[in-house]
Amino acid sequence: MEAAAAAAPWWWAAVAGAVVLAVVVLDAGVRRLHGWYREAALGAERRSRLPPGEMGWPVVGGMWAFLRAFKSGNPDAFIASFIQRFGRTGVYRAFMFSSPTIIAATPEACKQVLMDDEGFVNGWPKATVALIGPKSFVAMGYDEHRRLRKLTAAPINGFDALTSYLPFIDRTVRSSLKTWADVSADGSEVEFLTELRRMTFKIIVQIFLGGADDATMHALERSYTNLNYGMRAMAINLPGFAYHRALKARRRLVAVLQGVLDERRASMAKGFARSGAMDMMDRLIEAVDEHGRKLEDDEIIDVLIMYLNAGHESSGHITMWATVFLQENPEIFERAKAEQEAIMRSIPATQQGLTLRDFRKMEYLSQVVDETLRFVNISFVSFRQATKDIYVNGYLIPKGWKVQLWYRSVHMDPQVYPDPKKFNPSKWEGQTPRAGTFLPFGLGARLCPGNDLAKLEISVFLHHFLLGYRLVRKNPSCRVRYLPHPRPVDNCLAKITRVSDEY
Ligand code: HEM
Repeated sequence: MEAAAAAAPWWWAAVAGAVVLAVVVLDAGVRRLHGWYREAALGAERRSRLPPGEMGWPVVGGMWAFLRAFKSGNPDAFIASFIQRFGRTGVYRAFMFSSPTIIAATPEACKQVLMDDEGFVNGWPKATVALIGPKSFVAMGYDEHRRLRKLTAAPINGFDALTSYLPFIDRTVRSSLKTWADVSADGSEVEFLTELRRMTFKIIVQIFLGGADDATMHALERSYTNLNYGMRAMAINLPGFAYHRALKARRRLVAVLQGVLDERRASMAKGFARSGAMDMMDRLIEAVDEHGRKLEDDEIIDVLIMYLNAGHESSGHITMWATVFLQENPEIFERAKAEQEAIMRSIPATQQGLTLRDFRKMEYLSQVVDETLRFVNISFVSFRQATKDIYVNGYLIPKGWKVQLWYRSVHMDPQVYPDPKKFNPSKWEGQTPRAGTFLPFGLGARLCPGNDLAKLEISVFLHHFLLGYRLVRKNPSCRVRYLPHPRPVDNCLAKITRVSDEY
């Protein structure tokens, strides 16, 4: 008995060692088999030209590593693990969102893919397309995309468009700040991010639908919050999961927009004159292609769902982060404030509100916004699909494979931006970024059509904030959640205090 007891530790160690070995062998075997299953059809020659990487386990592939990195608060660990294992090749292969995927992580690789409209089409995961809309830009063919982009982009970003939106943006910003300061003066905090999202939503709804009553606005905005949370979650359509809630939110959005569209068509049929200027819904209703075809309701609704979403989420988040960074960095704050004071002194007494000319004078503030865009990486990745075999950095992207463009890894690469984790607006002074190194709005045919509008909105907000308010956060070191977008988990609970009699 005694001898058996003495031998037990040895046996246990042997058994444990065998189990570990079996798991390691099984793990390697399953990975190898999955890789073979996904890549065998390419043939030996094409397979040998693939970039380094691996398909991982079936179904999950690289998704665990991706989610682990983002949920643990260190999103850069995901690409760092590729660099560590396979070197700085700039392109890697992985199995992501249920598809064999090439990850492009350097400026050169991203630029090559983004500028090649023949070689690549949009390649968003099916689950995301189901949320944004099968008839929106994310799923459209080349010609249809070009046509609808032309129709919808100029009325958002052109000089005349921005000039016409500016007074509304200015008024909305001023009244929002005033309301939050009143709430704070009564002793309550506001969820600064939530309020900013509402504010940017109000602006985009005005541009696209000519405004909406408060109830419709709130219903739409709430649904968009759920839609967004589902966008980068695992596509599990079961009650309790973010993706399931997002699909429900999409159905609600479709119903609300269908209601607005029905009303609009009914009043057009009765010959009622339009009460204000033509908004985006009117433009889409009246659009006719070269074959005389008009857009169906589901096409108009999907384009609107996409625009209303893209047009407020990112702007709201970037506005919050820029305000937080200004407030956390007194020197940067003072310099940005001094610039706005100088602009105010140059404005004639007869002028009402800000003009585009004033906005163009905000040079330092523009650097603050650019640095925030780089630093926060609100759109950390975008998706394409190869239409033919293409070589990038000497490696093959096989026809039909998905491509992920990791804007985040470009912006956080110390070889592109020395000391990338330091917020330093001055790095933009007199700098025009090398092509492909600054991609907050993407590049090429799919470059964000709202980039100028976004910068205008953010700058107008910061202008008024710097001159008249301060932000006091309740939990300044609150944890940051990175999916779907980087945000403090308390949505930046804070008091907004008024510091100027002008406001
Ligand atoms: C700070 C604010 C914003 C950021 C960081 C941002 C970022 C981006 C990025 C990176 C893309 C390219 C995605 C790709 O490469 O596939 C994009 C596309 C897009 N953005 Fe923005 N965006 C912002 C604001 C806006 C605004 C205000 C609007 C609307 C008025 C808008 C509408 C769109 C649309 C419709 C697309 C799809 C374009 C296409 O596929 O042709 N965005 N945005």
